[in-house]
Amino acid sequence: MSELKFPPNFSWGVATSAYQIEGAAAEDGRGPSIWDTFSHQPGKTFEGHTGDVACDHYHRYDTDVDLIASLGVDAYRFSISWSRVQPKGHGAWNEKGLAFYDRLVDKLLSKGIKPHVTLYHWDLPQGLQDLGGWGSRDTTDCFADYADVMGRRLGDRVASICTHNEPWCTAHLGHHVGQFAPGNKDPQLAIQVAHHLLLSHGKALQAMRASGVKAPLGIVLNQSSVTAATQSQADRDSAERQYAAFVRWYMDPIFLKRYPTAPGLSIYPTVSENDFNTIAQPLDFLGINYYTRIWASESSPPVPAPNAMGVNDMGWETYPQGLSDLLRQIDRDYDLPPIYITENGFAGDDHLVGGKVADSPRIAYVHTHLAALQQAMEAGVDIRGYFYWSLFDNYEWNSGYAKRFGLVHVDYENQQRTLKDSAHWYSDLIRKGR
Ligand code: FCB
Repeated sequence: MSELKFPPNFSWGVATSAYQIEGAAAEDGRGPSIWDTFSHQPGKTFEGHTGDVACDHYHRYDTDVDLIASLGVDAYRFSISWSRVQPKGHGAWNEKGLAFYDRLVDKLLSKGIKPHVTLYHWDLPQGLQDLGGWGSRDTTDCFADYADVMGRRLGDRVASICTHNEPWCTAHLGHHVGQFAPGNKDPQLAIQVAHHLLLSHGKALQAMRASGVKAPLGIVLNQSSVTAATQSQADRDSAERQYAAFVRWYMDPIFLKRYPTAPGLSIYPTVSENDFNTIAQPLDFLGINYYTRIWASESSPPVPAPNAMGVNDMGWETYPQGLSDLLRQIDRDYDLPPIYITENGFAGDDHLVGGKVADSPRIAYVHTHLAALQQAMEAGVDIRGYFYWSLFDNYEWNSGYAKRFGLVHVDYENQQRTLKDSAHWYSDLIRKGR
């Protein structure tokens, strides 16, 4: 495989999110989030798995940070559980919850690791869902208050703060498809939710900037390249529509103050005067999460995606070229701030055998995606860092603990962590690079 060469100041990291790793769901005053509610409903998640315990990171954060440091990374991306710091999402704050994130940030800093904070990784306090959740415009103001409090609390010590992780997933998977919390199946609601997420992002940036928060501020979007299966009009229209719904739906409001149009896109949200001005706050950085491409086939029968490089355990095609194509496309279309790849990773059929996990498909996945990233950088795209998803195996939402994305294997019987081959490979790469 090709040799990888990255600039010496390029940041290397690993990523996680609160509900997927923390556990301690009802401890020290944490309130329930929509994922607690959803995962406890029969039939919603794989074998009824919940994040009640997860990786028990709330109790093990100290040694987990030692583990992160042992990988040689210089950056760690994690999220705040909103209902841990403000149990209902409005009203009283929970000092014990806030203190946990202080301890985590301080420990990271003591190990020379830059903390990158995500404010919202899908776990809305249930107290706000009870008032209408992201379907209610009022939630955008609650989010701005929450961002302001966290920004003032951590903003002098962290390397970045992003408002939302993958608003498409919250809106579409949570409110249209219903496979994620809160489990609604209403396309019009989903589009209104997407608008409120964007609006809350803009309000949060305004609030944090007004408070003088020093950390760079941004948002994390999940994006894919889109390939039309054939040159038929139907497939090309489908590709245009899917790119607009997935990528442009979030980029256009932020960078161009409008929603995109495309053949067959017909549902739009209610937008109040000035909303686009609020949403389009200047960003200090943009986070991109990339896993696979979208294959647009309206043909009958549909033309299947070629998967010469294989699929992962989620069934997602490995398509590194899509990362480079996507980055070059958005760099042409928008006036972008510096970019971080805030997630990229591989779910594997991993087994702990004799103290080792041989996960060469994950190594190949990361290697080829880093090569694609390098191509995009050579083409002039300003990329400052890469975060592998995930630090360790964790609660993969509705797939429960059945899908393993980690560089580090977790044995859920005893919470033992074991570095997979990919973790050693990633460490070597980073150390050689330096
Ligand atoms: C992303 C999510 C992350 C994880 C990975 C596999 O969409 O941000 O929490 O589930 O997918």
